[in-house]
Amino acid sequence: MNILILGSGGREHAFAWKIKQSPTCGQLFIAPGNAGTGYLGENVPIDPTSFPEIGDFVLRKNIELVVVGPEVPLALGIRDYFESRHDIAHIPLVGPGKQGALLESSKDFAKQFMVKYGIPTAGYATFDQTQVEQGLDFIKTQNTPIVLKADGLAAGKGVVICENQQQAEKEFKEMLLESKFGQASAKVVVEEFLDGVEISVFVITDGNSYKILPSAKDYKRIGDGDTGLNTGGMGAVSPVPFADPAFMKKVEDRIVIPTIEGLKSEAIDYRGFIFLGLINVKGEPMVIEYNVRMGDPETQAVLPRVSSDLVDLLWACGTGNLNNAELTIDTRSACTVVMVSGGYPGSYQKGMVIEGLGTATNNLVFHAGTAYHHGRIVTDGGRVLAVTSFDNEIKAALQSVYDTVKSINWQGSYYRQDIGQDLLRWVNKPLETSTE
Ligand code: AMP
Ligand code: GLY
Repeated sequence: MNILILGSGGREHAFAWKIKQSPTCGQLFIAPGNAGTGYLGENVPIDPTSFPEIGDFVLRKNIELVVVGPEVPLALGIRDYFESRHDIAHIPLVGPGKQGALLESSKDFAKQFMVKYGIPTAGYATFDQTQVEQGLDFIKTQNTPIVLKADGLAAGKGVVICENQQQAEKEFKEMLLESKFGQASAKVVVEEFLDGVEISVFVITDGNSYKILPSAKDYKRIGDGDTGLNTGGMGAVSPVPFADPAFMKKVEDRIVIPTIEGLKSEAIDYRGFIFLGLINVKGEPMVIEYNVRMGDPETQAVLPRVSSDLVDLLWACGTGNLNNAELTIDTRSACTVVMVSGGYPGSYQKGMVIEGLGTATNNLVFHAGTAYHHGRIVTDGGRVLAVTSFDNEIKAALQSVYDTVKSINWQGSYYRQDIGQDLLRWVNKPLETSTE
């Protein structure tokens, strides 16, 4: 079976790596891919939002399965485009249509959905540009910190946690009246702050059945101890030790099942991944956000733990047969550390030669912002590599991943030193009790 993956990050490299292991995988294409995916398949210089070009390519190369990595093509309606074109409508595509993608592309839609289907989430209200005064009055009634969210997609930057009323009022006005996040902040969600530890739970569904993939914890801030600016994600650990069977049962009963049932009730034919951004508030899972794709860098820790065939699972999802698919999980822990360009998430330089890649043979090195230049692999983005290691214990996996990270470098490279440290206090609980 010829397969096309859309995207160019570490997540897509991890998909390519796992898909390539399947005996069912024929030719593998990644559009546009990166230097790492180029080892596993053929990189194709097509933008994942150029739908007609993708459709023509799929026909030309006899592609039988399309896997969409990032959210933007989903939010722009790549599934709807495929369904509208009679010559490609039959080709299974993993990823929801535009309506399903609203769970990620509109925070207001997601909040209304959660309230309607009784899914636990923070209290909120939404305001548009005609409701600035009402919004400011609402902010005055809120406890601090106050969370402000741009309604639309803002590349992970649209959430501001305000420590006091004055900051919240200023941010609120900038978002709504000065288009701080462009069209994305034409509506703003004002939300109650939830205090707890975050966890990402991944679900694959064909709209009827679902399967819960391994959970993971992401590390979003640039600095050790969760300090500094938000990033796309600086590391991940899977499984999350506090996500014991009792916690995961709550997640399934209160969040996963009502979400799948809610999508059905809304007549949204959802085929793809649902990424539940959760917060554990004193043992109770609450939803912070939905994403309609896998996480990056969580995928780089989650997919290596899937021991069954990923192509079979994706095919079953895309063709509506998930009920019959197999999903088995390796009980070991996977730890991922992201190496970034100096200056990220602010401005940074590209084109630095990466040294030491050949020595990292014990662990998995997924590429994100990399490119080939005159026969060498150079940096080509903010997040450059994601290194993953496995072991029976998180501690040993962390030791191993950091050994590899230290052996790779380029001018200005940076990584967090404390990935996974916060989870060690839970590891006395045996990991085998995890429901995964
Ligand atoms: P999001 O873009 O929705 O993932 O939000 C970015 C980050 O903001 C999340 O990962 C959380 O750390 C934080 N956040 C979002 N909503 C809340 C909330 N209601 N309470 C506390 N933190 C939040
Ligand atoms: N790691 C968070 C995300 O992919 O959105």
